Amino acid sequence: MLLNKHIIVGICGGIASYKAVELVSRLQQAGAVVDVIMTEHAEDFVRPLTFSTMSHRPVYSDLWEPSGQAAERHIALAEIAEALVIVPATANTIAKLAHGMADNMVTAVALATKAPLLLAPAMYKEMYMHPATQANLALLRERGAVVVEPEVGRLASGAFGPGRLPETSVLLGAISMLLGRKGDLAGRKVVVTAGGTQEPIDPVRYIGNRSSGKMGYALAMEARDRGAHVTLISGPVALPAPYGVEVHPVMTALQMRDAVYNAIRNADALVMSAAVADFRPLEAAAHKIKKGQGEFAGMPRAAGQAERDADGFPLYLTHNPDILGGLAAQLGQPEGGIQLQRRLIRVGFAAETDDVLAHAQSKLVAKQLDLLIANDVSRSDSGFGADTNKVFIFHANGAVEDLPVMPKTEVATAIWDRVVSLLGMA
Ligand code: CTP
Repeated sequence: MLLNKHIIVGICGGIASYKAVELVSRLQQAGAVVDVIMTEHAEDFVRPLTFSTMSHRPVYSDLWEPSGQAAERHIALAEIAEALVIVPATANTIAKLAHGMADNMVTAVALATKAPLLLAPAMYKEMYMHPATQANLALLRERGAVVVEPEVGRLASGAFGPGRLPETSVLLGAISMLLGRKGDLAGRKVVVTAGGTQEPIDPVRYIGNRSSGKMGYALAMEARDRGAHVTLISGPVALPAPYGVEVHPVMTALQMRDAVYNAIRNADALVMSAAVADFRPLEAAAHKIKKGQGEFAGMPRAAGQAERDADGFPLYLTHNPDILGGLAAQLGQPEGGIQLQRRLIRVGFAAETDDVLAHAQSKLVAKQLDLLIANDVSRSDSGFGADTNKVFIFHANGAVEDLPVMPKTEVATAIWDRVVSLLGMA
């Protein structure tokens, strides 16, 4: 998404300007062409050399230098820019932008460019909350600017409140989303599930699986960066919520089923990458099971058939609903089933350790899917926890694609490419 994109990063005079160094570096590493423009006071915090070292390009700041070249340059930059990102945006620059002032290179480029504007305000909490700043931001939003809300936390002054510049990953997400908003999924609603479910045994223990959620999160971010409205239904994972994605955290398979069936009613595509637990304890104990009580694990005490032996005790499990399979069954019903507003493209995953192709093919048919992504989770470069995946894509028309090992982000791209062409046919 960022590859070869021409991005102008405007740096204002706030303490958070040092954090923009990492942003510029990450944008450059992602293949973007980054031109940095600094206000005079930004140079009091970070030297231009720091930014030019990261961007591998000259840094601009003085609009009034005697050769007149900078004055010409600001027009050229304004024309070539695909996004103007102001990080940090101070109250002063926000006020100038709201009122169309152009007294330095950052504000002059902002006025001269047709590129979308993204602002990441960072300042002392009272300045941020001041009605003047809020009114200026509202005006800029009305004109189409994207404002990445500052985080609430400890500020440089020592005070606590809103005004912290968000993490670089959040800013990168916001920039990617801005650049992709007219992409091939613009106007589409997609639902992605990710991570594994946790099925409680008692308040402290659960049955889970090794799903990291990386594939599902990559799918959600890719769809966002192609313009989709994304609902991400996620089991517990150690990943940050992606910027601009509607995240619904769930714990159990039953919660995931309810969230999915609710979210798909007006969606165009459902991609189920979650590793849903097929079984759950028949009944979760209300209190922590003590060593001596194990014989009742997972079952109502009244059932009472458990025989505790010398070394252990049985754990009673019951089937969880098959979310995708259940959907196929319900959609076939004229009454009482789930009513969808649009044709829903359905994509499933099959995590297998043996006979990958045969199992995958039968899951595609049984769950009536448009696409099934099969991976061999016994390989170290594929499946749970890995950053790469080796997948086969099974199509409803019988076609099978064998993709090479690639990063999960590229697998996500390949999957959405197929979904986009199916949506084009729908
Ligand atoms: N899935 C689901 N509900 C379940 C289990 C799985 O919706 N209770 C979805 C998964 O998200 C995935 C697909 O069905 O997209 C296949 O999941 P997988 O666990 O590989 O298949 P199962 O149908 O559970 O078959 P098995 O575990 O017997 O291989």
